[in-house]
Amino acid sequence: MLSPEKIIEIKNATVYRGNTKVFENLSLEIERGSNTAIIGPNGAGKTTLLKLLSRELYPVQRDGCYVRILGRDGWNVWDLRSQLGIVSHDLQHQYAGHARGLEVVLSGFYASIGTYSYQQFGPDQVQRAQQIMVTLGITELKDKLFATMSTGEQRRCLLGRALINEPHTLVLDEPTTSLDLKATFTYLKIIRKLMREGRTVVLITHHLHDIPPEVTQVILLKGGKVATTGEKQQVLTDDNLSHLFDTPIRLVTEDGYYHAIPADTSARPAS
Ligand SMILES: Nc1ncnc2c1ncn2[C@@H]1O[C@H](COP(=O)(O)OP(=O)(O)O)[C@@H](O)[C@H]1O
Ligand SMILES: [Mg+2]
Repeated sequence: MLSPEKIIEIKNATVYRGNTKVFENLSLEIERGSNTAIIGPNGAGKTTLLKLLSRELYPVQRDGCYVRILGRDGWNVWDLRSQLGIVSHDLQHQYAGHARGLEVVLSGFYASIGTYSYQQFGPDQVQRAQQIMVTLGITELKDKLFATMSTGEQRRCLLGRALINEPHTLVLDEPTTSLDLKATFTYLKIIRKLMREGRTVVLITHHLHDIPPEVTQVILLKGGKVATTGEKQQVLTDDNLSHLFDTPIRLVTEDGYYHAIPADTSARPAS
């Protein structure tokens, strides 16, 4: 049955990468409009989940198992990429270094890695790309080579690439990893604006400080399994996080942001 109010529905997915079984009967759902953080330690399966959503990986086929995106099981990968904006680290690593900022954003129209001479871009498309660059504060990167951009600049250009088709859902893999504080804050500000404009954002991360106050739902992923899922305030507790990361954690909240600090007494300053 179609249920378009759910943007992502994974049911009983068993997924292998090489000989490693990453997920066994994984089930999870994300509803439209529910800004969601998927949190898990290294190796939890976060990137594998992202690849499942982008259809770079498929579950083992069997009855009662599906990966349904925007209410559909079957997708032409190119259509999907224009509906679901994904910014991943793989994309950033693979992206063509010789592309310039404006071309990076334009390449979203074809979901390609760089632009090619056979691809035609009309004045409307170029204008739209320029408009996005203004919104993201990256107009100065228009002619800059991707290879010579900072990590934060690259990521903002790739976000522009994801936004060009106006996807209502964005999936961001560890968005602030390897960004300095200024770049982190700039990126968070942009993500918050997108959420406030009504886009659904799914953040995949192991950094709690990545999670803007607008995120309301949290899924904790551990060892390829959903450990806990629900409302952010209920899920983000000292106990849940300590269990998730296998280390005693105390959470500190400030202005709607969460930070994890070590909870074992030896980590405290001597008094
Ligand atoms: N190409 C691969 N071949 C075999 N195992 C892999 C491959 N990629 C990832 N894995 C394994 O799958 C598990 C989940 O990895 P991943 O999804 O990258 O986790 P995360 O992004 O949460 O750190 C890990 O145990 C990892 O070692
Ligand atoms: Mg990962």
